[in-house]
Amino acid sequence: MGNGNQKTVVITGGSRGIGRSVALRFAEDRPRIIIAHYDPDEVEANKTLNELAQRGVIAESHKIDVSSFEPVASFFKGILLKYEKIDVLVNNAGITRDALLMRMTEDEWDTVIRVNLKSVFNCTHAVVRSMIKQRGGRICNIASVVGQIGNAGQANYAASKAGIMGFTKTIAREVAARGITVNAIAPGFIDTEMTSVLPEKVRGIFIGQIPLGKMGKPEDVAEAAYWLCSDAASYITGQIIHVNGGMYM
Ligand SMILES: NC(=O)c1ccc[n+]([C@@H]2O[C@H](COP(=O)([O-])OP(=O)(O)OC[C@H]3O[C@@H](n4cnc5c(N)ncnc54)[C@H](O)[C@@H]3O)[C@@H](O)[C@H]2O)c1
Repeated sequence: MGNGNQKTVVITGGSRGIGRSVALRFAEDRPRIIIAHYDPDEVEANKTLNELAQRGVIAESHKIDVSSFEPVASFFKGILLKYEKIDVLVNNAGITRDALLMRMTEDEWDTVIRVNLKSVFNCTHAVVRSMIKQRGGRICNIASVVGQIGNAGQANYAASKAGIMGFTKTIAREVAARGITVNAIAPGFIDTEMTSVLPEKVRGIFIGQIPLGKMGKPEDVAEAAYWLCSDAASYITGQIIHVNGGMYM
């Protein structure tokens, strides 16, 4: 379909926040962009599609729960049937269900592990065969600084993000010989809907722990994702790139 050199980029959680910024950063190269999201409505996803259209990119948005194996497999099968290849996968979808361990329910644990970690398995599993066949591809997983340093009240989230880091390094080793790179970004405290729900006092405490003295912007993460998925980063694989204002060094 269309220009054979045109890249196909899939971004999970691309309706808003970091995922939207990633989509807009990739848009500069005019690839095909497919975003997946699980918002209750299409408002934010349509906003992303409109912003992409303004940049000359015809994009698609699909509401799909990335934590469910079978629907994810058929979602990617559909993309591959239509566009024949997927060049870039950004595993960005994620949620929080915070509680101290003693109060954390089994459901809060399971849901976060499924949405944040199992989704990365589901999506990577669904694209890796085609990337191996085409002998190239880029996978970028969005982890978190919390996966490295921990955070009281986020045992489920921290475990899911640390899991992503182990997964990233393992798959990087499995597919390196086929010209595929697999990396992760560990953002610090980024100004999105996910963090806007935190009380002002908690935000202040977090900001106090950041040497650069401010929250990051979604664009800061998007820039790193774009670069990791570009030809310029072809010798970088299995790495965790920290975008955190110095919060963890
Ligand atoms: N904001 C931060 O400070 C921060 C810091 C470190 C890491 N992160 C990570 O960055 C990623 C994006 O975070 P954000 O702040 O932009 O979040 P956000 O809440 O603004 O957006 C989350 C996106 O994930 C999608 N999503 C949620 N559950 C889904 C599901 N089951 N299936 C498909 N899509 C689903 C949502 O629809 C949305 O598009 C997440 O993985 C998050 O853990 C964020």
